[in-house]
Amino acid sequence: MRIGIIGAGAMARALGGGWSAAGHEVLVGARSAGAAGELAAAIGARAGTITEAAGFGDVVVLALPVPALREVLHAVGDLLVGRTIIDCTNAFAPDTAAPEGVTAFVLAEDAVAERVSAQAPGAHVVKAFNLCAAEVWEAKARVFDGRRLAVPLCGDDETAVRAVAALAEDLGLQPISAGGLHRARYLEAMSVFTVGLWFAGHDARAMFPPLAAAFAVAD
Ligand SMILES: NC(=O)c1ccc[n+]([C@@H]2O[C@H](COP(=O)([O-])OP(=O)(O)OC[C@H]3O[C@@H](n4cnc5c(N)ncnc54)[C@H](OP(=O)(O)O)[C@@H]3O)[C@@H](O)[C@H]2O)c1
Repeated sequence: MRIGIIGAGAMARALGGGWSAAGHEVLVGARSAGAAGELAAAIGARAGTITEAAGFGDVVVLALPVPALREVLHAVGDLLVGRTIIDCTNAFAPDTAAPEGVTAFVLAEDAVAERVSAQAPGAHVVKAFNLCAAEVWEAKARVFDGRRLAVPLCGDDETAVRAVAALAEDLGLQPISAGGLHRARYLEAMSVFTVGLWFAGHDARAMFPPLAAAFAVAD
């Protein structure tokens, strides 16, 4: 598959590196030609501009800070029509109401994926990969306590969700189809809440029983 990655930071390296190693054609596009070239060389990808990345991929990853999305989506315009967009972004802001000495976050903006979809008409947005740190996506470890790390996916287009699920599997991850794009806002909220727990030293994974012990199990 051809994958365009917009941005050349930590998430571009983690996801792009994994997909490049799995045999996909990856093009990293960034506003700095030097940063795009350096990352592309490191992960065995091609380098280009943001516009080239948008026009290259069957799948295009927005590996950008949320405040950059509006400008970048406007700049690439119709190039994204018909393509699958992976939105891995989080819009964290410091929680100014947190107790003294506690680092916590709130959402600076909610429903980012839905806004991306509105700003990229004709593209198929899938929210994915926003729950864990780039180091996790980049690492080799995939199985924890006997279970493969799962990636919930929210998107409205079945073909696009299937494509992103296959890309998650290519990284050794377990995709979970988690509903339409209107549910992506819950993934965004889950991320900010969970990261706050981790920063406070709590093991967020300990909050949930295994499926067999959960009361709400579908028949
Ligand atoms: N890092 C994580 O652990 C993690 C985990 C889950 C989700 N996320 C989310 O994934 C997204 C990317 O995170 P990241 O860690 O990869 O960020 P990062 O390392 O800071 O990289 C961000 C990239 O976006 C580019 N960029 C910033 N502003 C831009 C603009 N106005 N126009 C064009 N390009 C711009 C940067 O280019 P310059 O170098 O030129 O500034 C850089 O290439 C964020 O929304 C983040 O919340 C991150």
